[in-house]
Amino acid sequence: MRSLISILDLSVEELDELIATAKDIIARPEAYRESCRYKKLATLFFEPSTRTRLSFEAAMLELGGSVLGFSEASSSSAAKGESMADTAKIVSCYADIMAIRHPKDGAPYVAARNASVPVINAGDGQHNHPTQTLADLLTISREMGRLSNLTIGLCGDLKYGRTVHSLIEAMSRYEGVKFVLISPAELKLPGFVRYNVLEKLGIPYTEVTSLDDAMGQLDVLYMTRVQRERFDDPAVYERLKDSYILTKEKMELAKENMCVLHPLPRVNEISVAVDDDPRAAYFRQALNGKFMRMALILKLLKEAEENPRREKVEDGGWRHDLRCPNSRCICHTEQELPPAFRLTDREAGIWRCVYCEQVGVE
Ligand code: NCD
Repeated sequence: MRSLISILDLSVEELDELIATAKDIIARPEAYRESCRYKKLATLFFEPSTRTRLSFEAAMLELGGSVLGFSEASSSSAAKGESMADTAKIVSCYADIMAIRHPKDGAPYVAARNASVPVINAGDGQHNHPTQTLADLLTISREMGRLSNLTIGLCGDLKYGRTVHSLIEAMSRYEGVKFVLISPAELKLPGFVRYNVLEKLGIPYTEVTSLDDAMGQLDVLYMTRVQRERFDDPAVYERLKDSYILTKEKMELAKENMCVLHPLPRVNEISVAVDDDPRAAYFRQALNGKFMRMALILKLLKEAEENPRREKVEDGGWRHDLRCPNSRCICHTEQELPPAFRLTDREAGIWRCVYCEQVGVE
């Protein structure tokens, strides 16, 4: 049995296989209508969501299964102080698979280690969002006809934007991909993606502050919202919230076949006037998310049926004597969760928290 916590849990072959399944679902939806009959998906959403939760639910319903769950923490036992580990054990009694969104980095990882059914990370804090990446990959594949040899611009909140982190992790594994990271200095890409992925794999990337200057070289432009809920200081959010606004005028600087993605929700970073541009793919992207979630549910349920045992965690060589500096990591709130750090850079002696990937401190 397998869970999807990070997009790196899937190999490139598996990503390609999910894309192929999604395209087949699009071509022959009737062939899948009974695929998950009598199966139940639980959606545990401790943070607001429209697309992710509803597309998960629609995905399961279109596969002939049923859904149960909650859409805010206040209506779950978390409000009474129940731990993620206990919630995961309980939900395993009622559902065959679960999707979890949580404000704490690493919460779905803790759930997966305690659940006896597959767990899907539907967004954890400022960390990862692997199923949004699945939607993004299908969109790029359908819009551009390929996932290799692309220059991808990521614009906006690259620090707190979890969709950006997972997308870079996924696209870095395709041939000939380059990134242009467009953000204000305060919202640059964090180390766990920069060092663990881009630097480690030697992926070409540049960091710029001007969207206009970058525009002409991009094949894909991935716009993001400045993540208000992650800022400690509201004044900093106010200062940065309007850093980038994609307008019709700016679109004139772009290639004719560039495509614009956005995980949505949009606040004001894309002018509504851009929506009619054929290159604006963000509403098609939301639909693609449902097809990829269908493909993912099918894959994880099939694997769970073939092998119902939870994958063993390889924790040999972990350190437990460091402290995680990230106040939003699940390790600080979960009852009796041992701190755990794995060596991610032998030469530099960097140990990263297994839950949130921040560098541990003595
Ligand atoms: C994203 C998220 O939740 O991280 N939304 C989504 O799932 N489509 C992006 C965002 O909230 O800005």
